[in-house]
Amino acid sequence: MRRVQQWLTNLRFFELPKFSKAALPPFAAISPKIRVSSVRGYVDLIDIHGVAGWVLNEHVALDELAVHITIGTEYLGSARANIEAPDQIDLGLPSNARRFRFRFPHTISYADLPRVEVTEGATNQPLDGGFEYFRSYLAKKYATPELGGPYCLFFEASANPDPLAKHYHVTVAGDIRVASERASHVQPCADGEIRARLTLGLPTRGRAEGLWFYSPATNLGFRYEATIAEPSDDLIVVNLSYECDGTPFTMPLTAIPVGDLGTECATSIPEPDMIKRVIGHYWDAWTSYVVGGWTNVVHLDWMCQKYLERSLAELDTILDWGCGCARNTQPLIKIAPGARIHGIDIDPVNIAWSKQHVVGATFDVSGLFPPLSFANDTFDIVYGLSIFTHLTEPTQDLWLAELRRVLRPGGIAFLSYHGEAAAYSREFSVDMIENYRQRGIEDYVVDDALTGVIEKEDYYRSTFHTTDYLYHQWSKYFDIVGIEPMTCGHQWFAICKKPS
Ligand SMILES: C[S@@+](CC[C@H](N)C(=O)[O-])C[C@H]1O[C@@H](n2cnc3c(N)ncnc32)[C@H](O)[C@@H]1O
Repeated sequence: MRRVQQWLTNLRFFELPKFSKAALPPFAAISPKIRVSSVRGYVDLIDIHGVAGWVLNEHVALDELAVHITIGTEYLGSARANIEAPDQIDLGLPSNARRFRFRFPHTISYADLPRVEVTEGATNQPLDGGFEYFRSYLAKKYATPELGGPYCLFFEASANPDPLAKHYHVTVAGDIRVASERASHVQPCADGEIRARLTLGLPTRGRAEGLWFYSPATNLGFRYEATIAEPSDDLIVVNLSYECDGTPFTMPLTAIPVGDLGTECATSIPEPDMIKRVIGHYWDAWTSYVVGGWTNVVHLDWMCQKYLERSLAELDTILDWGCGCARNTQPLIKIAPGARIHGIDIDPVNIAWSKQHVVGATFDVSGLFPPLSFANDTFDIVYGLSIFTHLTEPTQDLWLAELRRVLRPGGIAFLSYHGEAAAYSREFSVDMIENYRQRGIEDYVVDDALTGVIEKEDYYRSTFHTTDYLYHQWSKYFDIVGIEPMTCGHQWFAICKKPS
């Protein structure tokens, strides 16, 4: 929240001339609501911090135009509508309308957003457009790229061993995006069999308000529960099978270690604050670290097979770039036992833990900027999960060139980014979205997760890219051969191939 506030301050969105409430009549004294055809207006921007829009009343002098803002019966304040917007006349704004902006005296909840009412100052007549209008305006203007098949926006997965029956109950539940016009017959399989039907259309489990651009956002929830008596392996993989434009596809949804592998994984887990630093949130170590790591690596294996036509087990050298506390490196070591695996990170604490607790890979602290100590053309793949989501544009360019240098010709860097779904699901305002769309990258918000851990405290950012930006900018360094949604979360992968 602090970061979002700082962000708003940076944008100076609400830094407009201060308006004195005393200049307007107290709310109770405002005239009763009468519909007057000379009044028009829209709320075209609303978030939990404030509201903005335009208003027109032909019977009121332009410099007297004002609005009142309420939530239910609570009067929040009034604002002069005195901002001229000549550039919006072409977009249909009447020339005698004036824009207003109003910052709420306190942050309001998402649940209260639809209850915000803005009325014209002289008549107290509600403006004829509101939150719904704003959302459909944005949704139309900024379509979110459809990435083909279904993908999860948020989920949790677990498999609880039943020691008496020796059964595993697998549960996967969360929110799933199914591009229904293209993808159909969506069905998970656990350990190779369907076992149970998938329930779709449940209430959205994450923040439905934040997923407004996936209409209808309120019923994206899914649940899948299956019982496995004797798994064929000590890694239960849940795959999602579906058809897209009539062609069948399968992609991994999650992977849960059980039996001896599960026991072994549970012995090498770092402290919660180290895990929090690399994933930003924390449910419990098992879900966040073990199931999260295995899910990521099984997904990486699937991407390798798809784009490199080799599985992880067939590779010689792998760089886990930004490995944190080895969440993904540990399953990588198991899944690709013949490969030389290197984990590097700028976080010396997490690297020290990894060196001490993880066998089978080398770990090193990286500088904040290139070069790396590896020779040219060293790696078959580079895996960068949620690293470019934290770098400024100039720093990214340096690292893109360096990763290209250390990759073998024909090798692939799998680099995740916060794309449109991640950007639009934040506490949005038109200014933020416009800024992100225009530049194609947003990199100015400092993420304080590494404060006290690295020296340059404004190095680590919260960064968002448009998919178009990647195709334009990153293709200076790599051939972008695909975009893949991550099976969990809002990050998407850019598949960056070094030309042979
Ligand atoms: C969100 S965490 C992800 C960690 C890990 N990939 C995972 O999924 O658990 C981002 C990591 O990138 C590291 N990082 C940031 N900039 C880096 C850079 N230039 N080189 C290497 N690591 C970096 C951070 O220290 C942090 O551990």
